[in-house]
Amino acid sequence: MRKNIVAGNWKMNNDLAQTEGLLTDLQKQTQTSDAEVMVAPSFTNLWHSFQSLRTSDIEVIAQNMHFAENGAYTGEVSASMLKSVGIQTVILGHSERRAYFNETDATLAKKVDAALANNMRVIFCFGEELEDRKSGKEETVVGNQISNALFHLDASAFKSIVLAYEPVWAIGTGETASPEQAQDMHAFIRKTLADKYGNDIADNLSILYGGSVKPNNAKEIFSKPDVDGGLIGGASLKAEDFFAIVNAF
Ligand code: G3P
Repeated sequence: MRKNIVAGNWKMNNDLAQTEGLLTDLQKQTQTSDAEVMVAPSFTNLWHSFQSLRTSDIEVIAQNMHFAENGAYTGEVSASMLKSVGIQTVILGHSERRAYFNETDATLAKKVDAALANNMRVIFCFGEELEDRKSGKEETVVGNQISNALFHLDASAFKSIVLAYEPVWAIGTGETASPEQAQDMHAFIRKTLADKYGNDIADNLSILYGGSVKPNNAKEIFSKPDVDGGLIGGASLKAEDFFAIVNAF
């Protein structure tokens, strides 16, 4: 079901004390929009965050997971481990995982399968590099990232999938895709899904934008017809800024 969603990707930030402080500040905020609100702390803070936000309307989600159920994968975390600490949603395919940890489309397809097999919801990330956009290849790159990792799925799987378009050149740079650039790509993404699975699936997908969303640009970006919210990095680390974005619908 297509919903407005704002998810905060805390990335590798906040120790336990800092997490507790941010969670306290988040619960002091007032929400005036209908958006689903999520925050993604690091693994070490998931259980504490889940317990702290249990009675709130803020869902705690994970930033990543491994595709194996268990075994000799030092340093990794499985879907069942995440579910054991209350986590029902996981971000997969973030450009930083693709770049720094060599996550391929094939690996991500296995991670998506593992999450769905554990009845988890997936926020699946993708996006082009600056040179792709400069050479006019952004739709080819994004189309391949989506089809390579998701098009083996049955249509029914998409009730548990949220898409997140994050142009790599806009992540953490302060440079944001223009609202028109975001809308053009989101419309392409929705058409790509419609061509494969039909309009009913495509029209019911939430497609989030990520890449330097801030309180001063969120309203214009979220006003676009095919933008259903945002995946927020830096601005999610301050409760007031994050909820200014949550309320920007
Ligand atoms: O996952 C969201 C993130 O990649 C965007 O980061 O700091 O540009 O909002 P930021």
